[in-house]
Amino acid sequence: METIQLNLKERTSRVFLPESLGFGKIFTDHMFEMEYTESKGWHNPVIRPVEDLSVHPASMFIHYGQSIFEGMKAFKQESGEVVIFRADKHFERLNNSAKRVCIPPVDVEFMIEALKELINIERDWIPTKHGESLYIRPFVFGSDPFLGVKPAKEYKLIIILSPVGAYYSEGFKPVKILVTDEYVRAVRKGLGDCKTPANYAASLLAGQEAVKRGFTQVLWLDGVEQKYIEEVGTMNIFINMKDEVVTPKLNGSILPGITRRTVIEILKSWKMNIVERDITIDEVVNAYAKGNLLSVFGTGTAAIISSVGWLTYKDKQMVLNNGKPGALDIKLFDEITSIQYGLKEDTHNWIFPVEQKEIVNS
Ligand code: COI
Repeated sequence: METIQLNLKERTSRVFLPESLGFGKIFTDHMFEMEYTESKGWHNPVIRPVEDLSVHPASMFIHYGQSIFEGMKAFKQESGEVVIFRADKHFERLNNSAKRVCIPPVDVEFMIEALKELINIERDWIPTKHGESLYIRPFVFGSDPFLGVKPAKEYKLIIILSPVGAYYSEGFKPVKILVTDEYVRAVRKGLGDCKTPANYAASLLAGQEAVKRGFTQVLWLDGVEQKYIEEVGTMNIFINMKDEVVTPKLNGSILPGITRRTVIEILKSWKMNIVERDITIDEVVNAYAKGNLLSVFGTGTAAIISSVGWLTYKDKQMVLNNGKPGALDIKLFDEITSIQYGLKEDTHNWIFPVEQKEIVNS
């Protein structure tokens, strides 16, 4: 792969971050960009100022949704060291999503190096408060102008960066979730297990209706019978019962979350009984009725661990831990964030350090 061109703007003032960052509202100065054509493959990697994109109105992704994305995070640790969490797994998942929608794969090693280069340039934007981080959004879309339905011939890959705090407006407090059987997000063998905008478009109406009723988000049931629980759409879901912790098994319609995987690996290392299997919503309701439901929590890059304080299915509201985070949820949140912020040794090799390098404009 070619060397990355640096076309950087002169920084005229210090980076100033507001007290409350929220999620996805602030963007750093620079982005990484690379193009794909059939004759050249992926080429022309460049880091340049963030600016509006110029796309032809017939660009294929606009019409037929041929696009994928990722979400990962970088942290500034107390020592000042900057690290990316599980960058390899995120770019591998990008390639899995790419395959499903006929987008050409990227070189994972090259992408990790490109991301480190971008983050090195933007390191002043990384917030330092516990709970805050630099959210990384790589995305790829079919860019050539054509109105026939077929895979695009040209693509763009872009990475933008955004300093963020908590994903939900509740902050790190438990969320209110509505189990929906009115809409479905995805069906097996469809697109549900790839990170493509269509899945998020499919979730909007149910999410909007749930918010109007005072909920934070919806929990999706399977697309055929609306019987088995699947995911929240921005998070995978874990059901913590007295004798086992269950998360729905990856069946083709559930996103293979990197935080989901992290939690499973941690729970196994703690010798807990973590099981990936089908689980019906009725089983969750029964466990609650019998007093066997200790906690329910979601996992995701943006949300990390998010306790569910209230889970409503049909007309029944289940209140978990009096609306407070469960003990296991807190323990997992502390474990993951301690590794991310460098307060605990990373014995799993999840951390990718971003060495500080001198920046020379090319
Ligand atoms: C993430 O957790 O990174 C997500 O992609 C969820 C959402 C912001 C789309």
